[in-house]
Amino acid sequence: MKVIQTVADFRLVQREYPRSLGLVPTMGYLHEGHLSLVRRCREDNATAVASIFVNPTQFGPSEDLSTYPRDMEGDLAKLEAEGVDLVFAPDVSEMYQEGFDTTIDVGDIARRLEGEHRPGHFQGVATVVCKLLTIVRPDNVYFGQKDAQQCLVIKRLNADLDLGAEVIVLPTVRDPDGLAMSSRNAYLSDGDHEAALSLYRSLRLAESLYSEGVRDGDAMRREMLALLESEPSATVEYVSIADAVTLVELKSLDRPSLISMAVRIGRVRLIDNVVLGA
Ligand code: PAJ
Repeated sequence: MKVIQTVADFRLVQREYPRSLGLVPTMGYLHEGHLSLVRRCREDNATAVASIFVNPTQFGPSEDLSTYPRDMEGDLAKLEAEGVDLVFAPDVSEMYQEGFDTTIDVGDIARRLEGEHRPGHFQGVATVVCKLLTIVRPDNVYFGQKDAQQCLVIKRLNADLDLGAEVIVLPTVRDPDGLAMSSRNAYLSDGDHEAALSLYRSLRLAESLYSEGVRDGDAMRREMLALLESEPSATVEYVSIADAVTLVELKSLDRPSLISMAVRIGRVRLIDNVVLGA
């Protein structure tokens, strides 16, 4: 496995590797969710590439950039064990050179949900993913359904700018108790971990209401909020019931619907989602 830190080196080295080439973009501190993408990338492609880059432009000024968990050595060992061929792990100064002044602004789909609560977040994501796709030029690129809106934003970006990758979305990997795996779970104390299960429980509640025939979006949201708010250390940012393609809020779940939420457990911001009626 080769670890490459500059754009110029990556461009040179990449030519020696056979196609198809698959890319898994990450911010590191790898867990089984990331590794599920890496394994599928390895299976699908002659060359498997992962990137590790904690992208400063997708963090807001009051967010957790400085404390975002990092473990480059551990991450490289995990990627090596999965048979990855190339790792692209640039420094911030390599990705954002002196004078850097271009931003990719994906429209409507990026302004909703997370976009509303984390201004500038998806501009940062779209800009760095555009750069990664341009540098790595993958045939296939892999993302997790855990970040459902991110997947939609990147599909839009890839289509609109003709970046030419096949965007493959894989299911959310969960702990045995249901908590969606996330690098940020590292910040959760044992008590917080228990409280964080309320996200999963509220999604299970939505699933069971749906299977009982409930289609009223407001009624479903009310029940989910009641469950989440009964958890003292949980602060709900939003619970959304939206069209799974356009993210427009739904009065009635009469089409594939993305049930998603952002909840703070203490100071840790967690997101999770499920699609109903697909
Ligand atoms: P990061 O949070 O490190 O996640 C990298 C990829 O792993 C994303 O596609 C994410 O959806 C996926 N992932 C995270 N947790 C998962 C889980 N429990 N199950 C399945 N997949 C999971 O997302 C980012 O980094 C960044 O925004 C990035 C796309 C790298 C741009 O900076």
